[in-house]
Amino acid sequence: MIRVGILTISDRGSKGEREDLSGKILKESIEKLGWVLKRYQVIPDEKEEIINTLITWCDKEHLEVIITTGGTGVYPRDVTPEATKEILEKEIPGISEYIRFISYPSTPFAALSRGVSGIRGQTLIINLPGSPKAIEEIFPYLIEIIKHAVSKIKGDSSECARN
Ligand code: MTE
Repeated sequence: MIRVGILTISDRGSKGEREDLSGKILKESIEKLGWVLKRYQVIPDEKEEIINTLITWCDKEHLEVIITTGGTGVYPRDVTPEATKEILEKEIPGISEYIRFISYPSTPFAALSRGVSGIRGQTLIINLPGSPKAIEEIFPYLIEIIKHAVSKIKGDSSECARN
């Protein structure tokens, strides 16, 4: 049972002007997998607020995975990647490269998502784009990666090469 936090980053969502469909899809997917949703929050595109929430969820709540949605693009208010990079101890560029790679058949605009992934303490953090369509397209491909990463981050030293 993986302990997960979902952090939706959206100015409109945080004011209640838009339903958080992306967060809803992520919540349902996580529950279906039998993972435990420990934290769920919708916050505005404010760098300090993103940083503070991520630090609390990593250092105090000790979540195993945090998935953020939104704020990864090129709109002036988009700061999710900058906030995440500031608190990561190790980046995992391959996860975000893979996210863009699997997204290209759906839209070339995947190139505009600047999301990053990595580790702080024993928490895996992954930035996803904000649209519900993007979550549906991307999340199924991340399940096995997340499971494997979580066990490795905790120090599982077993052989992991796949044939
Ligand atoms: N990736 C997938 N798989 N599907 C999508 O619809 N939308 C793109 C991109 N990545 C999209 C996607 C678009 S249009 C934008 S602008 C960027 O994600 C950034 O989105 P964000 O600012 O909501 O995070």
